[in-house]
Amino acid sequence: MTPTGTPAAHAVPANPPLLQLERVTAAYGPVIALKGVTLHIRAGEIVTLIGANGAGKSTLLMTIFAAPPLREGRILFDGQDLAGLPTHRIARLGVAQVPEGRRIFPAMTVEENLAMGEAPGQPADAALWEQIWDHFPILRERRRQRAGALSGGEQQMLAIGRALISRPRLLLLDEPSLGLAPLATQRIFAIIDRIAREGATIFLVEQNARQALRLAHRGYVLVNGEIRLSGTGGELLDDPEVQACYLGG
Ligand SMILES: Nc1ncnc2c1ncn2[C@@H]1O[C@H](COP(=O)(O)OP(=O)(O)O)[C@@H](O)[C@H]1O
Ligand SMILES: [Mg+2]
Repeated sequence: MTPTGTPAAHAVPANPPLLQLERVTAAYGPVIALKGVTLHIRAGEIVTLIGANGAGKSTLLMTIFAAPPLREGRILFDGQDLAGLPTHRIARLGVAQVPEGRRIFPAMTVEENLAMGEAPGQPADAALWEQIWDHFPILRERRRQRAGALSGGEQQMLAIGRALISRPRLLLLDEPSLGLAPLATQRIFAIIDRIAREGATIFLVEQNARQALRLAHRGYVLVNGEIRLSGTGGELLDDPEVQACYLGG
């Protein structure tokens, strides 16, 4: 247990960064959404990005896929500059994103939705399917049902499963708890924790700051497109500004 009384995240060796953003500035036309953002994620880490609605969290994730394109700065994945690479090339390097709002295909079955996540030319083998079903037993039960019939929490599991089936080296999660009831939120955080303990590298964007910081090794606080604070999950949970602005005082 850490001094804050929360369970410590599992230990991660000090690898070189898997993802590195250097002074990233991005804009939608005249609207500057990110200003000089520098951050990194090491292999095996869970890193969270917290911030209010409109702070630029989704934009930060989307700049990794160059939408919107960078005005300044650069983004490196495993040392490689992503500038100019099309989305499918970045996906092939091993970056998988679970977008805000999940974006599953409601008319397709659960199984068909999962298969949509398979990397082109690299179908998931039986062991990987088994691993996905093992993470999400409810999806196994409902594999032949229309995805649109799932609950919000189950749809989020489906969206995470669809990302995992490409065997990503980096999993980007944009507000996985958005709109979920407390129990479903708990389940999603428990699944993220389990996936991380099995060795995944996760960049978790959340408005649910308390849960995200408890789960994460490290975190960054984004305010109006700028990184305001960074530290370990425990340090940020103890920070007075974080407590006042994001943890309900
Ligand atoms: N497609 C877009 N066109 C213009 N402005 C946008 C677009 N998407 C987001 N924005 C603006 O960029 C800022 C950051 O938005 P966003 O990254 O969605 O924040 P968050 O995910 O933290 O809620 C906001 O001011 C938002 O209004
Ligand atoms: Mg967002």
